[in-house]
Amino acid sequence: MSVQAITRIGNPTLRERSTEIEVHEFGSEWLLNLVQDLWDTQAHYGSVGIAASQIGVNRRIFVFGFESTERYKNVVPVPRTVLCNPIIKITDPTTTNRYEGCLSLDNLRGEVARPIGIEYSGFDAYGNPIKRTVTNFHARLVQHETDHLDGVVFLDRVQDIKTIGFREELNKVGIF
Ligand code: NI
Repeated sequence: MSVQAITRIGNPTLRERSTEIEVHEFGSEWLLNLVQDLWDTQAHYGSVGIAASQIGVNRRIFVFGFESTERYKNVVPVPRTVLCNPIIKITDPTTTNRYEGCLSLDNLRGEVARPIGIEYSGFDAYGNPIKRTVTNFHARLVQHETDHLDGVVFLDRVQDIKTIGFREELNKVGIF
C-alpha cells in the first residue's frame, strides 16, 4: 500500500466521530490495506501514532508504537500495535502535564494534562482481543489517538494556551 496525505485541522474529517470496525471487517483485505497505509504513513512522517481519521477514513482504528523516535526525547519504546474499537479505563487518575504534537497540526506543540495510568482494550486487525494496563507515554499516546476517533485534537485539551508553540521554537528553549 502507500503513504497517504494527512488531514489537518480545518478538514471536517478530523472533527467527526469515527464509527466502529464491524466484526465482518476484521481480517478483510480492506482493513489490512488500511492498516498498511497507516503504518506506511506513520513511517514516512516519523510519527509515533496515527489514527485512520488522519488519512481521511472515519473508522475507529489507529496504529502506534516505535522502537525509537526522534520526535520525542526521553521516551521508552512502545510496542507496535494496531488497535480497533478501543475502550479506555483510567487506572491512575493522577495527571501529568506534557507537551504533545500531532501530524494534523504540523509542528505545533502544547501542554496537555492527562491521567498517568490506563487500561485499554480493543482488537487487532484480525479481531483478536487486546488488553493492556500501561502508564506514562504509552498511556498518553493511546489517549491522544483515541481522542482522534471522537473528533478531538490535543489543542482542545490544552489548558494554558500560552504553552502552544512550534516545535523548533520550543526546542530552542529546551522544551521537547
Ligand atoms: Ni494526533
